[in-house]
Amino acid sequence: MRIAILGTGQVAAVMAPKLKVAGHHVVIGSRDPQQQPAWMSAAGSEVALASHEGAVAVAAVVVNALPGAAAVQAMSLLGDELNGKVVMDVANAIVPSDDGIALSYPNGSLAEELRGALPRARVVKAMNTVSALVMEDPGALPAPSSIFVSGDDPDAKQVVKSLLRDLGWPAESIIDLGRLETARGPEHLFQLLVPLFAWGTPMLNLAVIR
Ligand SMILES: NC(=O)c1ccc[n+]([C@@H]2O[C@H](COP(=O)([O-])OP(=O)(O)OC[C@H]3O[C@@H](n4cnc5c(N)ncnc54)[C@H](OP(=O)(O)O)[C@@H]3O)[C@@H](O)[C@H]2O)c1
Repeated sequence: MRIAILGTGQVAAVMAPKLKVAGHHVVIGSRDPQQQPAWMSAAGSEVALASHEGAVAVAAVVVNALPGAAAVQAMSLLGDELNGKVVMDVANAIVPSDDGIALSYPNGSLAEELRGALPRARVVKAMNTVSALVMEDPGALPAPSSIFVSGDDPDAKQVVKSLLRDLGWPAESIIDLGRLETARGPEHLFQLLVPLFAWGTPMLNLAVIR
């Protein structure tokens, strides 16, 4: 599958090599593709770097790994290029506040905002509730844990679930919450995750036991 990852941060750094090993063609989208991020040169990565437009043009799946508060504006610039494509939204939309960090969309979700801005893209929310290190290596945790998926398009959700499997998530860990509105739950979990990550390790996750 041809995958564009927008953003050259930690999420792209861990996800791109793993998806490549799984057999996918991965292009990273950057605002400045002339400027290779340090992790790319350090890893000797053969993952390609392009502009956002260039990365998306060849992709069937576009991963939103941008700062969440900037994502709607940045992805709106891509307009029709995203029509029909699966947009896997892993971002957390947060802003600094007097109390620390606040949600950008406290009465909704980034995923719904992306759907509103890009009505012909097939937005699926996934993986925003774990650190990048857990995203690509859930087996490093001492027990099975849960990962959530929300979206309106069943086929798009299947694509995302298969990518989660490629990243190491067992089928029984993947919880399909339903339509895209359910992304509010995982997005608002950010306020629980902040104090948990303050324990000092990114190697943690929630498990739904039933
Ligand atoms: N890191 C984690 O452990 C983790 C876990 C779960 C979810 N997330 C979410 O995943 C997303 C990516 O996180 P991250 O830690 O990989 O990276 P990040 O620090 O949020 O930045 C990602 C990349 O986005 C680009 N960028 C920065 N500001 C931008 C702007 N105003 N407009 C457009 N592009 C901009 C930059 O790449 P270029 O300069 O190359 O354009 C940057 O490297 C975030 O929304 C984050 O909340 C992260």
